[in-house]
Amino acid sequence: MPGTLQVSLWRGGSEGRYVDYDVPQRDSQTVLDVVTFVQRHLDATLSYRFACRVGMCGSCAMTVNGKPRWTCRTHVSKVAKGGKLTIGPLANLPVIKDLAADMREFFQKWQNAKGVFAPSKTRKDPVAPIKPDDPVRLAANAGIECINCGVCYAACDTVRWNKDYLGPAALNRAWTLVNDERDAGQGARLDAVSAEGGCLSCHTHESCHDLCPLSLNPTASIAGLKRRAMKAYVGGGE
Ligand code: SF4
Ligand code: SF4
Ligand code: FES
Repeated sequence: MPGTLQVSLWRGGSEGRYVDYDVPQRDSQTVLDVVTFVQRHLDATLSYRFACRVGMCGSCAMTVNGKPRWTCRTHVSKVAKGGKLTIGPLANLPVIKDLAADMREFFQKWQNAKGVFAPSKTRKDPVAPIKPDDPVRLAANAGIECINCGVCYAACDTVRWNKDYLGPAALNRAWTLVNDERDAGQGARLDAVSAEGGCLSCHTHESCHDLCPLSLNPTASIAGLKRRAMKAYVGGGE
């Protein structure tokens, strides 16, 4: 029989506190459903972020009972211990208000890691033929489905200790571009990811890999960047 969930939600900015709410339990209820119930029925001033509700937009990530997760794809039945849920904003980021973390530094680090495609051709050139089973293309494919949700960034201890660290998502993105033979920005990208706060700061904890909801492996991408950076350093080119 459905009962009542005891839900603690973070309220306020970085100096806020947890506030308790009673939320009716439902079949197939997600954590996002719980947060939405509070906002619609108990306190309309609650701030949080979501868009697609189906694991595509990457905007709904929060800390749920101590771990970063997509709230729209996390069923209450899998995470509520004794009918209790504690939900806060993503860790390792400033808090805007309540459950909404400020993602600006996360996205700025994508820019800092040169995680932006640098075209080598114009639209007038023929499209470059790239074999889908080419090993370089397969290396890029392994990380390309990232939806920028920030879960890995919130899970990373190195980000917690070192605010300059680019973090798993930005470095994973850089790795996909390092393996994109159409890209013309490899020198600047390797410089960026090899600098202070780049791939060499990763301690291979694998929390990013363990918690990525898409089972992507930023740890492996970062290891690839380390190898490529070392090769460039000893004179083997990019
Ligand atoms: S493997 Fe590297 S990027 Fe991933 S959580 Fe650990 S330190 Fe962070
Ligand atoms: S690598 Fe995974 S956890 Fe990290 S931002 Fe991308 S989708 Fe989210
Ligand atoms: S609301 Fe889009 S991923 Fe959860």
